Amino acid sequence: MGDNAGFDETEAEGVEALYTTEAAERRRAFVRRQLDPNPGESVLSIGCGPGFEPAELVETVGDAGRVHAIDASQPMLELAERRCDDERVTLAHGDATDLPLEDASFDAATSVQVYEYLTELDEALSELRRVLRPGGRAAIYATDWESLVWNVTDRARSNRVAATWAGHCARPHLGSTLRKPLRNAGLDVERIEPFTVVETELQDSFAGYMRAIIRSYAAEHGDADDAEAWGDDLRDRDDAGETLFSLTAFLYLVSKPA
Ligand SMILES: C[S@@+](CC[C@H](N)C(=O)[O-])C[C@H]1O[C@@H](n2cnc3c(N)ncnc32)[C@H](O)[C@@H]1O
Repeated sequence: MGDNAGFDETEAEGVEALYTTEAAERRRAFVRRQLDPNPGESVLSIGCGPGFEPAELVETVGDAGRVHAIDASQPMLELAERRCDDERVTLAHGDATDLPLEDASFDAATSVQVYEYLTELDEALSELRRVLRPGGRAAIYATDWESLVWNVTDRARSNRVAATWAGHCARPHLGSTLRKPLRNAGLDVERIEPFTVVETELQDSFAGYMRAIIRSYAAEHGDADDAEAWGDDLRDRDDAGETLFSLTAFLYLVSKPA
């Protein structure tokens, strides 16, 4: 794992802005509904990012519950500290592949858009299993970037930009390929639920922030002219009232055998 897991201060702030959107809020509510924490439970947030996840999860565990959140990026943890002003929430620097936590110490866990960044997926899943109590459960949420759809003028160019963007994480297709590694780790897959974001405007939207993030990444790691032209085309489509953005991720609800 590199410094800050690839999320420096600028990237952390970009993610934080993306996560203020209504679509990101709906996604977190979807994850909480699937995990369905109970009052008094101990919940672990793996790769908590800017802290929306633990700050909202703690509202579901009552006075006797607690949420512990870890992340490998110091800038992310600094953002999370500002958001998690509750004595039932603890935050710590930690790596998902080597959790600094006791065996069987959590009733439930979440890991949302984290495992796709890991080359050592098997180690991370084995760590997840280790820290869950027997019968404990986890909600693992991962995108398949092949599901990304935009209304664009030049489809070949859009495919080139998407191919460059796929390089931003180690496992761009984790959403559709996670069952086998989960089984291999000794976790039972209880169900798989899709979550799709569909948007028709760029202004202050998940789609708008994704356009900016992808354009900047593609300009740096691929053909800069392509990336600029792609971003301009999306802006023109938006000015014409023709934005269509869609992205699907999959939530795996898993349990550790009792
Ligand atoms: C896209 S953000 C998701 C944040 C949060 N789960 C959410 O949905 O609000 C990915 C997060 O995973 C963290 N991360 C990446 N690799 C990690 C690792 N090996 N261990 C712990 N956290 C990691 C990053 O620092 C970043 O905060």
